[in-house]
Amino acid sequence: MSSEHIIEEKKQGQALITDQIQGNTKKLFIESYGCQMNLNDSEIVASILSKEGYNTTHMLEDADLVLVNTCSIREKAEQTIRKRLQQYNHVRKINPNLKIGVMGCMAERLKAKFLEEEKMIDLVVGPDAYRDLPNLVQQIDEGREAVNVILSKEETYGDVSPIRLNSNGVSAFISITRGCDNMCTFCVVPFTRGRERSRDPKSIVDEALDLASKGYKEITLLGQNVDSYLWFGGGLKKDFDKASDIAKASAVDFAKLLEIVALAVPEMRIRFATSNPQDMKVEVLHTMAKFDNICKYIHLPVQSGSSRILKRMNRQHTREEYMELIDNVRKIIPNCAISQDMITGFCGETEEDHQDTLSLMEYVKYDFGFMFAYSERPGTLAAKKLEDDVPMETKKRRLSEIIHLQQKHGLYRMEQFVDQTVEVLIEGNSKKSEAHWMGRNTQNAVVVFPKTGQNIGDFVQVKVTGCTSATLIGEAV
Ligand code: SAH
Ligand code: F3S
Repeated sequence: MSSEHIIEEKKQGQALITDQIQGNTKKLFIESYGCQMNLNDSEIVASILSKEGYNTTHMLEDADLVLVNTCSIREKAEQTIRKRLQQYNHVRKINPNLKIGVMGCMAERLKAKFLEEEKMIDLVVGPDAYRDLPNLVQQIDEGREAVNVILSKEETYGDVSPIRLNSNGVSAFISITRGCDNMCTFCVVPFTRGRERSRDPKSIVDEALDLASKGYKEITLLGQNVDSYLWFGGGLKKDFDKASDIAKASAVDFAKLLEIVALAVPEMRIRFATSNPQDMKVEVLHTMAKFDNICKYIHLPVQSGSSRILKRMNRQHTREEYMELIDNVRKIIPNCAISQDMITGFCGETEEDHQDTLSLMEYVKYDFGFMFAYSERPGTLAAKKLEDDVPMETKKRRLSEIIHLQQKHGLYRMEQFVDQTVEVLIEGNSKKSEAHWMGRNTQNAVVVFPKTGQNIGDFVQVKVTGCTSATLIGEAV
């Protein structure tokens, strides 16, 4: 696994903290597991609860409310959260007033069943119900259990200004779509986050401008499938066909949104995640090429290199079509970095399918990768219709082969930067040394270099002198 992924994993489940608001007396301990979208949702929740008198704390012992934003993507993610809930329960012995709430995907998946399974839980709230938190919190304060897991056709939290948690003051997330309509057979997201809807471009631009005015230098536009973004006045993506002619004619797709944002905040770096091969249009690549401030990096999950397996996964594209998209990226944006998500040992995967995955990786030579053994999720089409028949041993062996190859390719990509000068946005101290800065280049590679008087948030030209498989080492010029 790339070390970037490991860093992300370490960020999981830390208390998220923001500036204290004067006059707020109640204490919220909030932590987030899973994807960046969850982290951004936690920021939305912190914002909603700050208006109810809550400040964030990192001390469970004196919190009034603990909220854990949960992830259901793999079984292991859910197990981690179950263990964490036991720990909260222990804290109750010294802090009997502590109320415990679960939010996010696991809350949505298990609904009220969660209250039965984990007796210590007071509150269950799904991803589209956070606006109801003031009511729900009042209910639990009155000693009742509270549940709201209703999924919405409209909710985008477009007007809620998120409170940035554990922020470096340099980079921030902006959610642009919620939910997913793709129904990949292995994936629980369509069930936990509901149907796909896009957020009003005006509220996206306003949030970007607000971040710029507060000194932020980089934004990441977030969605389960950003390329599928489509604004035509609000509502579900699947209802676009029913929209009026005027609404259709003035619709904003992802390429257009990227351009609008790039023009609105020309001094900021713009990133986005996640792209979906079947929905990524060539216009997006042209927009990326056209604007210097759109970062040259695409996270383009493929999941498998075998067309047969892709079909079983309901991925809507073949190996050949994916390779064609990669060719287009290389042609239109020659310096673009590309990363993957890969699932190994999906139902019916043969050794030949696995070899197809390895050969696809050889073809692309991904800069980074996030690789997982298939984990069957209840309720998904794969769980209902396909047999999880690849033995764990085999999944693990194939996974380690994939990780090994990815490390080789990661190193190869990093080596291409040695002796080059790259622009780096400083994010903070390097983990290993206070005397070094850590930042990223446009391709999202981590760059570490000695401090020579710069500040966090500065753009610096760095001459790369060496590298590991995940980090560039250099000197400011
Ligand atoms: N489009 C989403 C995907 C979310 S899930 C996005 O914004 O990234 C992230 C990754 O987890 C997927 O790309 C897939 O590689 C992996 N994943 C999803 N379901 C899985 C499962 N059941 N078992 C193993 N890995 C899974
Ligand atoms: Fe999941 Fe596929 Fe959507 S991986 S989030 S169903 S694009």
